[in-house]
Order: sequence, then structure tokens, then C-alpha cells
Amino acid sequence: MFKETIALVTGAASGIGLEIARQFVEEGATVVGVDWNEENLQATDESLGDRFIARLCDVRKADQIRDLCKYIGDEFGRLDVLVNNAGTGILQDPEEIGEMEFLFNYDILLKGPVLLVKDLAPMLRKSANPSVINMASVAARINAAKHVLYATAKAALERYTQHLTRDLPGIRFNCILPGVIETPLLNNYGEENVPAILELVAGRVPCGRAGKAEDIANCVLFLCSDKATYINGASIVIDGGLMQAGDFGL
Ligand SMILES: NC(=O)c1ccc[n+]([C@@H]2O[C@H](COP(=O)([O-])OP(=O)(O)OC[C@H]3O[C@@H](n4cnc5c(N)ncnc54)[C@H](O)[C@@H]3O)[C@@H](O)[C@H]2O)c1
Repeated sequence: MFKETIALVTGAASGIGLEIARQFVEEGATVVGVDWNEENLQATDESLGDRFIARLCDVRKADQIRDLCKYIGDEFGRLDVLVNNAGTGILQDPEEIGEMEFLFNYDILLKGPVLLVKDLAPMLRKSANPSVINMASVAARINAAKHVLYATAKAALERYTQHLTRDLPGIRFNCILPGVIETPLLNNYGEENVPAILELVAGRVPCGRAGKAEDIANCVLFLCSDKATYINGASIVIDGGLMQAGDFGL
């Protein structure tokens, strides 16, 4: 289905982004996979084959984003899919937040996507079915201890996505809000705590388990496909029912 597709996936060297890249490659797309983790990116490059093109880039850095976008323009002349997926966060109490923590969270989770859309919009307009997916989080809607910066940056990303549908007609913008997904990101809570978190989540989520990267990637590929050309400005919660059942428990 994606044989002619050129896709750019950020945070492609781990977890959800890696699975999105893997599925696009499997379906015939050419994927430019971006990450700031050189070692994991190299391993991804080796495992996904010729149609995966690894590009080292820190999405907080405007100059690196400009270079990346110039590469896309020079190499392909257009872009069909942009997945703004790169993410992590520093978790902190509101009274302990400094400028460094604020900028770290907001630069990765909001500034990166904003700059990528700005620089890539002309190339997306050259596609027959241009699609942008922004990876937010259920944290945008529900509260958890020490998540205030991460949550508000993700909430801003969701609103940004909606706003873009008005400002940049002709390109589809959709947002995904994952619940608790089993990826290396959970190590931010302490690697030793992950098994207990997964058990707790399995008890709270109506579907009876934490999510898997493919639960998210399956939806991304659908949203970017020619079966979803009227889905625009949507926010899709993929959390096994967690949000309806209560809070994170975290
Ligand atoms: N795992 C979850 O439970 C969960 C829940 C909700 C939302 N999300 C979101 O999904 C996205 C993917 O997360 P994941 O769970 O796959 O995490 P992950 O840690 O497995 O992968 C994230 C990737 O992003 C990369 N990255 C981080 N900052 C970057 C930067 N500045 N520049 C380039 N690359 C950068 C990391 O190196 C890593 O490879 C994130 O935006 C995350 O906030 C995850």
C-alpha cells in the first residue's frame, strides 16, 4: 500500500517510532528515520534494510532540522508522511521546575514538531495524500504526579495539531494519544519499577494489559493510508480504555 511513500519518522530508533518505521518499510515505503541516539539508530539501520535511511538529528535543534529538511528536499523533492513521535520527559514537582527542565520538555515535545512542520510543509504539499501524525499522550487529558510539564506540552501538541488543519488545508493532521505502552520510555520511572507498573496497568486497563508499540503503529499506518483521506484533525486515544476507567495509578 505504501510502495511510493516517503515517510519521515522521528524517534525511530526505539519503541513506538521503531515499530512505525518497521511497518512502513514492510509495506514498501521509504522511511527516513530520525533519532538523537546514535547507537540505537545504527542498530535500527542495520535491522530495517535499504529502505530505511538513518539520520542523526536532535529535534530540539533548529539548525539540525533545517539540514534534515534540506536533505529530504534534495533527495526526494516531496514528503508523504511526517510522524512527530520523538519524545521523552523530565518528571518533576511543580515547585522544583527550573528553566532547563521546562525547555527540555517543551523543546522536544512541541518545538521540534512545530519546526518540522514549518520546514516540511512545502514538501508535504507536493504529495498526493500528505499526512502528519503527532504523538501526544493521554497525559494531555489526565493528571499524574510530576507529569505537569510533559502533560501540558502534550496538550499543546494536540491543540497545535487541530489548529494546523485550519491553517494548512490540503495536508491532513491527526493526533494520537497513547495510554501506557510497553517501551523503553517506561524506564523513566526507574527500570526496577517497570514490572510493577505493567502489573498495575494490567489491573486498571479494561483491555487487561499495557499497550504494545504495534497497537499504535497499526493506527498510524491506517491514518496515513488512502483509506483515511477524510480523517483530519482527529485525536485518537489508544489506551485500552484506561482513560474511561479512571486515572493512571501512577
Ligand atoms: N510509552 C508510553 O507509554 C507512551 C505513552 C504516551 C505517549 N508516548 C509518546 O510516544 C512517543 C514515543 O515514545 P516511546 O514510548 O516509543 O519511547 P522510547 O523512549 O522507546 O522512544 C523514543 C525515541 O525518541 C528519541 N528521542 C527523544 N528525544 C529526542 C530528540 N530530542 N531528538 C531525536 N530523537 C529523540 C529517543 O532517543 C528514542 O529513540 C513519545 O513522544 C512519547 O511521549 C509514549
